[in-house]
Amino acid sequence: METTLQKNKPLTQTDAFPILGTDHVEFYVGNAKQAMFYYQHAFGFEPIAYKGPETGFRDTVSYVVQQGKVRFVLTSALHPEHPVAKHVQLHGDGVKVLALQVPDAAYAFETALAKGAKPAADLHTTTDEHGTLTTASIHTYGDTLHTFVERTSYSGSFMPGFEPWTSKAPTTPIGLKYIDHCVGNVELGDMNKWVDFYRDVLGFQLLVTFDDKDISTEYTALMSKVVANGNGFIKFPINEPAQGLKKSQIEEYLEFYKGPGVQHLALATDDIIHTVTELRSRGVEFLHVPDTYYEELLDRIGKIDEDMHALKNLNILADRDEEGYLLQIFTKPVQDRPTVFYEIIQRVGATSFGKGNFKALFESIEREQALRGNL
Ligand code: FE2
Repeated sequence: METTLQKNKPLTQTDAFPILGTDHVEFYVGNAKQAMFYYQHAFGFEPIAYKGPETGFRDTVSYVVQQGKVRFVLTSALHPEHPVAKHVQLHGDGVKVLALQVPDAAYAFETALAKGAKPAADLHTTTDEHGTLTTASIHTYGDTLHTFVERTSYSGSFMPGFEPWTSKAPTTPIGLKYIDHCVGNVELGDMNKWVDFYRDVLGFQLLVTFDDKDISTEYTALMSKVVANGNGFIKFPINEPAQGLKKSQIEEYLEFYKGPGVQHLALATDDIIHTVTELRSRGVEFLHVPDTYYEELLDRIGKIDEDMHALKNLNILADRDEEGYLLQIFTKPVQDRPTVFYEIIQRVGATSFGKGNFKALFESIEREQALRGNL
């Protein structure tokens, strides 16, 4: 298979319906209160809204946290038989909803269904003193959903049912701006099915293909295709495992998540040195690449604005494409299971995904897998 990289080609507006951007990401977790505390104090997200028994909801608790345009909803169940509890029991903490903001949720939902999407939640309009908000949800890979959110007539903190909520402790943001991309892991042989889904149902375009020659180490391999919407604000790489000598990181994920799901969210910053310095000082753990990575780095990527020593000290990776360069780093999984993790990314012109770092990165992931006894 050939690697195709159509970076310079402008995306044509083939979207099935307009998507303005990511509205929010909802995580189902075992303990929303403690997850909120982690995202506030480790990642610098400001808690902004709350829904739970105190606001009239008896079955679940949700906290909304925000930094830049990145908005996370952290939800847990108050009863063992609740679907949120069942989801957490099966998958561990993980991403349930990738919500897409649309100008017209009814049109988005009807169009998606007409093009073959499976409905997950019908059109639902709620109103409070701040206006009206409409949502509807469709299924994507695994138990993950896309919720269409129309909030053009709504000015409240998040959604009707939520009340503004602030922490008694101050929040110190770390410069996270927006979600750059959001990666899904699917089962062997299913990658093209889901690429077709995004093309047929949402009108997304195939942006990049990586095959097992691009992404392989001595032991493990994976395949990946990136789909994007017309304005490029939504980028969804889809990974599937490829044949290797040992268990790939994708297989490890699928085994512990008990099926397909979101693997990582890439969060953009304009100052990765500041962002990663803060994250490290707050105890967030990152994958480690050996010092030898930095010996060849300057030769590989040429001159960059950042101090190479600072990048090495923080273990930040760099790569270059025809349009510029990027800096990136990957956290270790952020829950007990080796499933969801974060990428922190700073783009200085580059629009690609750090292909030059795949080998160093996957060798690093394999060292972690071996420590867990999963290689
Ligand atoms: Fe990524």
